[in-house]
Amino acid sequence: MSALEAVFPITEEDNAFRLEARKFAREEILPVAPSFDESSTFPREILQKGMKLGLMNLLIDSAYGGTGLSSFQACLVIEELAAGCAGFTTSMVANDLALTPIAIAGNPEQKKRFLKDVIENHQFASFCLSEPGAGSDAAGISLALQKDGDYYVLNGQKQWITNGGYASQFTVFGTIDKAKKHKGICCFAIPADLPGITRGKHENKLGQRCSNTVPLTFENVRVHKDHLIGQEGEGFRIAMKTLDASRPLTAGIAVGIARAACEAAIGYAKERKQFNQAIASFQGIQFMIADMATNIEAARLLTLKSAQLLDAGQNASLASSMAKRFSADIAMDVTTDAVQIFGGYGYTKDYPVEKLMRDAKLMQIYEGTSQVQRIVIARELLNS
Ligand code: CAA
Repeated sequence: MSALEAVFPITEEDNAFRLEARKFAREEILPVAPSFDESSTFPREILQKGMKLGLMNLLIDSAYGGTGLSSFQACLVIEELAAGCAGFTTSMVANDLALTPIAIAGNPEQKKRFLKDVIENHQFASFCLSEPGAGSDAAGISLALQKDGDYYVLNGQKQWITNGGYASQFTVFGTIDKAKKHKGICCFAIPADLPGITRGKHENKLGQRCSNTVPLTFENVRVHKDHLIGQEGEGFRIAMKTLDASRPLTAGIAVGIARAACEAAIGYAKERKQFNQAIASFQGIQFMIADMATNIEAARLLTLKSAQLLDAGQNASLASSMAKRFSADIAMDVTTDAVQIFGGYGYTKDYPVEKLMRDAKLMQIYEGTSQVQRIVIARELLNS
């Protein structure tokens, strides 16, 4: 029994999902990830293959076509996928992020319409919260919702929309009255082909380059009130609850990146000879590897703990933010050290660690920066 299993019992079913994800990562993702990264191309067909295997829409109830995993199982799956490529995995997890608001607050008819149809047709969905002027300050969004009879008319912009260039459905947050701050925010599930929606150019990013990231513009987009998820003014709470559920998955991506970097560094340190011996025999390298592995284990434990709290139906804001913050930060540290162990070779595209380092940086930025996570953690501690 591994140390992990002593703390978190892993059932045969959990392990089966984990092994399926590992196989998919090794056979379908890892061999092609560098070329998709280089060309910054969205790996649509491979992702849809993963979707058909149940490696996307992980948390969505099987009654609506999802895989219906627990958060704990989803984190095990995601670590494996991300050890293959974080860009692929971000695109895979983006569907869960987009569909979770509907799972949380949609009525039965909306769940059938906006979950089942998307999943059964193997389509992509995007979570549209951030704007050019509102990233960390999510309550400060400006996308305007003007009521017109049974319709809302949407005008505004969204930024950093993962899978936005390929999604068939957008989960969009806007405001009926900006002066009301978070109390004016509403959530909508919207077909991506509605007149007035324009998708911008894919961002040329430092890392996770194959995950599609675009801005969106909404110009007089008419949306029927049937598309409103939850009540008017409930959108901010829905977004925050969604992020609570999603941050353990994001933490799982960071753990997968860090694990891949640590494994690569160990392999290289045993092979690379300097001063007539493998560099793994030097204590300077050994201590780096010891710290890398210790931090990865700690990040994994925090991640799985936050997932278990969610599965138990408990408030997971504190644990989710701790897991996301710690895992993202150690992924950056571990990948930086892995490049250091590889030396000059690590700085080239001939070895995998420079990509892992570039991919890790985004973990400290999206789904709430490491600083936003600290805000959530501090508030939870000080206000309880
Ligand atoms: N669950 C339920 N309700 C919550 C909540 C939660 N987790 N967090 C806050 N709320 C409620 C509060 O109780 C409060 O309710 P009341 O009006 O009843 O008092 C209300 O929401 C407002 O809360 P705050 O005062 O805490 O709000 P704030 O404006 O100070 O914001 C923040 C806090 C934590 C900084 C928040 O804005 C935040 O999380 N920002 C980061 C946004 C983010 O993560 N964006 C990522 C976009 S998605 C992405 O990157 C993914 C991708 O595509 C790859």
